Amino acid sequence: MIGRLNHVGVATPSIEESVRLYTEVLGATKVTAKKAMPEQGVWVCFVDLPNSQIELIEPYGDNSPITAFLAKNPKGGQHHVCFEVKDIIAARDDMKAKGATVLNNGVPRIGAHGVPVIFVHPKDMGGVLVELMQEPGAAH
Ligand code: CO
Repeated sequence: MIGRLNHVGVATPSIEESVRLYTEVLGATKVTAKKAMPEQGVWVCFVDLPNSQIELIEPYGDNSPITAFLAKNPKGGQHHVCFEVKDIIAARDDMKAKGATVLNNGVPRIGAHGVPVIFVHPKDMGGVLVELMQEPGAAH
């Protein structure tokens, strides 16, 4: 069962430009430093909101998983939503048992929050790319 909305992923051709938008235009006050995640092929940066976060993602390297998305959406756009789950393996097995396609052959990766994550294909999720993330601090 899904828990809290952890963050909304937003793809952008420029994290710096997006940070300017979220801080100067929208008035956000807390933004994390831009961080490279070479294994995931992305740069990430979080905008902290009172009840959630926006995860800004920019391509890193030549084989970024968001390059195709940005080719279709040159200005960037909403890319995924991330819900917390208590146990990532149980959630993965549950998704597969229900017929959903879990990306990366269902193998969890360590995400930007330092906890395991999986992605569920949008074709099985009403057109939304869904990230499931083990609750930070939850034991497994
Ligand atoms: Co994410």
